[in-house]
Amino acid sequence: MNYVVINGSPRKKNTWKMVKQAELNLKGNFEEIQLIKERIPLCNGCFKCIMEGEDECPHFDKIKPIMDKIRAADGIIIASPVYAMNVTALLKNFFDHTAYLYHRPEFFTKKALVVVSTAGAGQKDVAKYIDETLRHWGINKVYKITYACGGKDSIDEDNINKISKKFASDVESGKLHSPKFGDVLFYNVWRAMALSKDPIEADRKYWTETDLVNHDFAPEVKLNIVKKSFSKIMFFIFKKVMK
Ligand SMILES: Cc1cc2nc3c(=O)[nH]c(=O)nc-3n(C[C@H](O)[C@H](O)[C@H](O)COP(=O)(O)O)c2cc1C
Repeated sequence: MNYVVINGSPRKKNTWKMVKQAELNLKGNFEEIQLIKERIPLCNGCFKCIMEGEDECPHFDKIKPIMDKIRAADGIIIASPVYAMNVTALLKNFFDHTAYLYHRPEFFTKKALVVVSTAGAGQKDVAKYIDETLRHWGINKVYKITYACGGKDSIDEDNINKISKKFASDVESGKLHSPKFGDVLFYNVWRAMALSKDPIEADRKYWTETDLVNHDFAPEVKLNIVKKSFSKIMFFIFKKVMK
């Protein structure tokens, strides 16, 4: 299996120690990306990735190699300490550069492991925020490991082992999970928007060229009859609203 690890901490300490413990339970190759070393300039809010295509981003040369590594991976590990009750600026800046994926989700066959450490607070909310971001990328299933170090040097090895083993066997199984209703809903927001009278050209191109526009959800991911019907109804409503 191929894993890509994205470390949002500027240092290799508490969060990294948790990542390394999780890696012991994963078999395969690891591509490690230390965001601090990537020197990605701050997103300047030009909207080019969203409106014109991600390759028009002025920082595309920095972002593309990372996205290519994610594309080549079966599993993605995203790590961040809590900084001021949120992810680090390093990780947030990276996420800002991937905001186009909200419009054009891509990673429907990938699974992710989120690793968050904190001194005392915010770890669950931060892990939830990363989870939500990844689901907007299209990621099929997100596992979360959080830990409050409270000034100690220790990590919760048992919990890390338990969750990372589940993540590993899921990645190795190759089985895809049924999406949440919220994922189906958002899928149809962007799908309908790409077909609207005055669409964002990059969105229209993506949804038509991938043929996702003709699917209730990414075709690799199976929907049961209830979710399929839900998808069709959502698409019908959003198309009407966005006409
Ligand atoms: C700038 C900064 C902001 C932080 N903000 C919080 C916070 O809001 N809540 C908290 O409990 N810990 C906070 N911490 C503590 C870190 O989350 C904690 O020490 C974490 O384990 C550091 O991870 P690292 O060793 O991977 O860098 C902060 C640390 C720094 C340096």
